[in-house]
Amino acid sequence: MFEIERFVEDCRAALAEAHAEKAVRELVARAVSDPAALVHALGEPQHAGIVVLHRGPDLTVLDFTWAAWMCLKPHNHLMWSVVGLVCGREDNVFWRRTEASIEAAGARSLGAGDVTVLGRDIIHSVVNPIGKRTRAIHVYGGDFFAPPHPRSEWDPETLVERPWDMDDTRRLFREADARAAGV
Ligand SMILES: [Fe+2]
Repeated sequence: MFEIERFVEDCRAALAEAHAEKAVRELVARAVSDPAALVHALGEPQHAGIVVLHRGPDLTVLDFTWAAWMCLKPHNHLMWSVVGLVCGREDNVFWRRTEASIEAAGARSLGAGDVTVLGRDIIHSVVNPIGKRTRAIHVYGGDFFAPPHPRSEWDPETLVERPWDMDDTRRLFREADARAAGV
């Protein structure tokens, strides 16, 4: 059985450990190993988007629903994160900084039940490569919406760095959701 209050409590306890992200990884792996229990606790998403399950200065837990075929621009987090796939597929492209911009440096495709830890300085972009929604639990080692240092995103066409724009990100989810629904 999955309970969000218990999950958050366990994550908060894990923060005290020497390698908090590894301990959180185990918790997320356990949570996504039983997707039916997760769906029972959290419900089925009605739209693509980001649902905040917990927000605090040292921990954020988000329920991400990617629209079919959706892409999200390169961005960094400036805090560690753990991603666990509930259903669908999430293709991550990892980028590294160059003198003037960024270049693709690697990739990792996550399917249902897969879990990965992203380091503090990772830059990634995300694609949902399938024609249905993908759902993932993302846990961050800080306040995702108010990071201690300003985060960056990169224009997906020109790869020019600019300040992270949360409103633009929410708009991208809304537009992708409408496109997938044929609106
Ligand atoms: Fe991200």
